[in-house]
Amino acid sequence: MAKPKYYLTTPIYYPSDNLHIGHTYTTVAADTIKKFKTLQGYDVFFTTGSDEHGQKIQEKAAENGLGPIEYVDTIVASIKKLWEMLEIDYDSFIRTTDKKHEKAVQEIFTKLYEKGEIYKSVYKGYYCTPCESFWTEAQLVDGDKCPDCNRPTQITEEESYFFRLSNYKDKLLKLYQDNPDFIQPESRKNEMINFIKEGLDDLSVSRTSFDWGIKVPFDEKHVIYVWVDALSCYLTALGYGTENQENFKDYWPANVHLVGKEIMRFHSIIWPSLLMALDIPLPKQIFGHGWILFDDDKMSKSKGNVIYPEPIIDLYGIDAFRYFLLREFTFGQDGSFTREKFLHRLNSDLANDLGNLLSRTVSMVEKYNEGIIPSPKSQEEVDASLRELAVSTADKVEEEMDKFNFSAALEEIWKLIRRTNKYVDETMPWILAKDENKDRLDTVLYNLSESLRIISVLLKPFMGKTSIEIRQQLGIKAQANWEDTKIWNSEEDSIAGNRVEKGNIIFPRLEIEKELDILEKANQALIDRRTKKKEVGKVEEKKEVEETPEVTIDDFAKIELKVAKVVNCENHPKADKLLVLTLEIGDETRTVVSGIKDFYSPEDLIGKKVVAITNLKPVKLRGIESRGMILAAEDDQGKLSLLTTLEEVKDGAVIS
Ligand code: MSP
Repeated sequence: MAKPKYYLTTPIYYPSDNLHIGHTYTTVAADTIKKFKTLQGYDVFFTTGSDEHGQKIQEKAAENGLGPIEYVDTIVASIKKLWEMLEIDYDSFIRTTDKKHEKAVQEIFTKLYEKGEIYKSVYKGYYCTPCESFWTEAQLVDGDKCPDCNRPTQITEEESYFFRLSNYKDKLLKLYQDNPDFIQPESRKNEMINFIKEGLDDLSVSRTSFDWGIKVPFDEKHVIYVWVDALSCYLTALGYGTENQENFKDYWPANVHLVGKEIMRFHSIIWPSLLMALDIPLPKQIFGHGWILFDDDKMSKSKGNVIYPEPIIDLYGIDAFRYFLLREFTFGQDGSFTREKFLHRLNSDLANDLGNLLSRTVSMVEKYNEGIIPSPKSQEEVDASLRELAVSTADKVEEEMDKFNFSAALEEIWKLIRRTNKYVDETMPWILAKDENKDRLDTVLYNLSESLRIISVLLKPFMGKTSIEIRQQLGIKAQANWEDTKIWNSEEDSIAGNRVEKGNIIFPRLEIEKELDILEKANQALIDRRTKKKEVGKVEEKKEVEETPEVTIDDFAKIELKVAKVVNCENHPKADKLLVLTLEIGDETRTVVSGIKDFYSPEDLIGKKVVAITNLKPVKLRGIESRGMILAAEDDQGKLSLLTTLEEVKDGAVIS
């Protein structure tokens, strides 16, 4: 039977800077859903990507002395590296600069125009460049500030194309009413309804004030509004608008678009309206999660409170990081990150509860049964209570995961972990080991291992490496299978008889004070490295500008350039990169040392005519005096070519 399809997306990220832990939240959540649904037997397609156009990126690139594409290429590479580090299992990474995306967006725009959904007019309003959003005067805060980011807006008046968003007010309200799950969580739905009830203006969907974007195909001085460009990626990632639409046919409409709360308006108002205008079926759900704050404040580079994921992952591993993000915060709400909370979770949930359960179980199987998991014998009341909880946990996890309650789902798993630890204390295997009859001990050791087997499957979508580690230590070779969590002591898949393999402690206990310091320093060191790299880039750029000042013709006349003939050429005896050339320049012969050995060998040059500066002050280069310099051209790929004249001229000829 064909697997049911499931399409899931994260927003596509602005490649304007390095991503912080807040950014990783949406993607880690989406990846967990993908892994969870896959384990349940769905065929999942997961899209993420980068949102590369717009004035903000164009300005950022210019600030860094780069063209927009050069600038975004580097950051997109760093985003992909981060996803790789976090083992994010996406199926499509769509870049809005991908040619196939650009072409499809142009087709979407044209289609909307031809259907009369888009028309041309003049826009007057307040524009927030960082948010790429227009606001009406009534929406501004503190005079001219953007209601989203609180930065000043600029009054803008320009010719623009408009999308007839105002036509969709009633259709949207009906959509929300007929599909109560379309916007989740509930609180966000109310925000959207209130926003729409105030009335919707038509939306300006093109710009002429900058050009870093997809051109309106029938009016090339306009670029398409970045949000129309970006939202369309959910379709183009599936091949919509290209020759290969298979994925679009298979996976659209999306089951869920996961987004941060500040971009709900774009996803639950503009996006469904655009889709309705295009006669494309609507996604089933938009889920707006909360923000991760730092000390109750928004993370930002200018406030100096950015927490980067890399040092945390380097120090404590991906699973600790993923666990913390998903467990500590309630997905729909804001939450505050602190290093203390992170380290306490590591110690209490991962080291004490989970790590300890695994290590004591494996140690007891080694110590009391020569490393072999025994078969269970007679069952008692206490065993039944553990067993019942173990086989019923998957259903509770499913129920929570259906609502994207990651934290509650993990709490269900931890109830089982804590219950299993309590079972050790209740049954006291070390006392049972003193009995002559080993039946009870066998049952207890089996039950502990079986509970851990179930835990290993339950954890798989959240903490892949840990799941594998637990299975390895229990000697389980088979793939984790979700339905196996609902059966205790399955006959086909019994772990009785497995040889356990004690491994490393999966989560060692940490000394909080010491780790706080390490963690803070590691984050700061990364911030310093990243800032320094940017400053070095800027200094170099400045230097370049300073090194090429304008010169007058008089300045130029001070330089004496002549045609010279290479009569001899040898490798410099003391330097790898230098050649020593003997030049004939009219009546005179002189020696010039030149750093071109990587490009020419002496025999390439003997007999050739070159261009030399002849009135340069002599310098000694590794012991040999060089009187002058020969000229060469170098391109941006590092290819070098010596200059010469088009026609044959006598050496000593003056160049002016
Ligand atoms: N490019 C747009 C999305 C276009 S989707 C068609 C964008 N990009 S973003 O890079 O600014 O944000 C990407 C995601 O990261 C968003 O879901 C955003 O909410 C999320 N987060 C950014 N900072 C965050 C926190 N501090 N906490 C949680 N999520 C945060 O918006």
